[in-house]
Amino acid sequence: MTRDPFEWIGDRAAARLRAGLVRELRPRPADADVLDLASNDYLGLAHHPEVTRAAADAALRWGAGSTGSRLVTGTTELHTELEAELAAFCGFEAALVFATGYAANLAAVTALTAAGTLIVSDAGNHASLIDGCRLSRAETTVVPHRDPEAVAKELGAHDGPALVVTDSVFSVDGDCAPLARLAAVCREPGAALLVDDAHGLGVLGEGGRGSADAAGLAGARGLVCTVTLSKSLGSQGGAVLGPAPVIEHLVNSARTFIFDTGLAPAVVGGALASLRLLRREPDRAASAREAAHRLHWGLTDAGLDAVAPDACVLSVRAPGPEAAVHWAAECRAAGVAVGCFRPPSVPDGISRLRLSARADLTDEQIAEALETIVRTAPRS
Ligand SMILES: Cc1ncc(COP(=O)(O)O)c(C=O)c1O
Repeated sequence: MTRDPFEWIGDRAAARLRAGLVRELRPRPADADVLDLASNDYLGLAHHPEVTRAAADAALRWGAGSTGSRLVTGTTELHTELEAELAAFCGFEAALVFATGYAANLAAVTALTAAGTLIVSDAGNHASLIDGCRLSRAETTVVPHRDPEAVAKELGAHDGPALVVTDSVFSVDGDCAPLARLAAVCREPGAALLVDDAHGLGVLGEGGRGSADAAGLAGARGLVCTVTLSKSLGSQGGAVLGPAPVIEHLVNSARTFIFDTGLAPAVVGGALASLRLLRREPDRAASAREAAHRLHWGLTDAGLDAVAPDACVLSVRAPGPEAAVHWAAECRAAGVAVGCFRPPSVPDGISRLRLSARADLTDEQIAEALETIVRTAPRS
């Protein structure tokens, strides 16, 4: 008998099971009766009637799919409207929409670097930035988390073009990058700064204009930001924001733009409606941050080890991966959906519950969430 070429997959699965690291899909019904602290719908817009109506209208008008890559038939007038409004809202010269935030990050890192470029990457960066570094032909050096001095040292030791890459709000612990200091250390050697603002758009800055706005850097020379449309905008897709020549360069060279089908009209229409809502109702961003702080106070008050949130992501330490999985399952059984991060998603090996705050959480829901999480916490 010939050898099964997939035998090694069974070995991996057995090792995962032994380590308590099996992941599984849990399809949710449309009418799930749970309190959601697990999604990234920070502003509660995914189900907003204006947003879902705009998505449905866009599908009816433009079709279910975009029908081609952006450079062929996949750019509708809706795509360019979204790009113009997103750039203006966040304070950048231009924007380019991608199929996902993941694709936007791959595009930005690979198109802004070449052989001979040094990439300086924060140790806590999201997988999509890491994969962008791996795909690029540049040399990547990983620096300790939130350490502008380490970045300055790497830049000082390199002669040639350089790109510093960082999340704005780190997706595991919810802490923020020191953007103003990073921009300052990039200025002197003329390094570019790429900031992934997936968790900052809609939450940080004036009325949710994002982390660059919050740091006084929106539209700054040498700065490029990526965002996702799938979190606070409650839709799907990603974008790169920056100087017009950089965006034009991406149109001509970013492989995840050129060789990928354009974003479906429904999600473009939904994202555009969310953006317009956010402009009209700027208090949503502050409400979401306030909810995060209230959750954090309640958790630490009860003696749990929770990282102070800089935006809407909250992380609560668990004693180990199995305890974290069990804790999340207990919360879910009690009607509160929470996320669970454990290795290999967390390279530091620390397992956590991951909660996301939302602008539309009521006082009663915050109290219910706290009661459930505290009551089901593992006893150490
Ligand atoms: C920090 C960060 N960057 C990028 C992404 C990718 O965005 P998208 O889900 O739109 O591909 C995510 C999503 O999980 C994220 O958390």
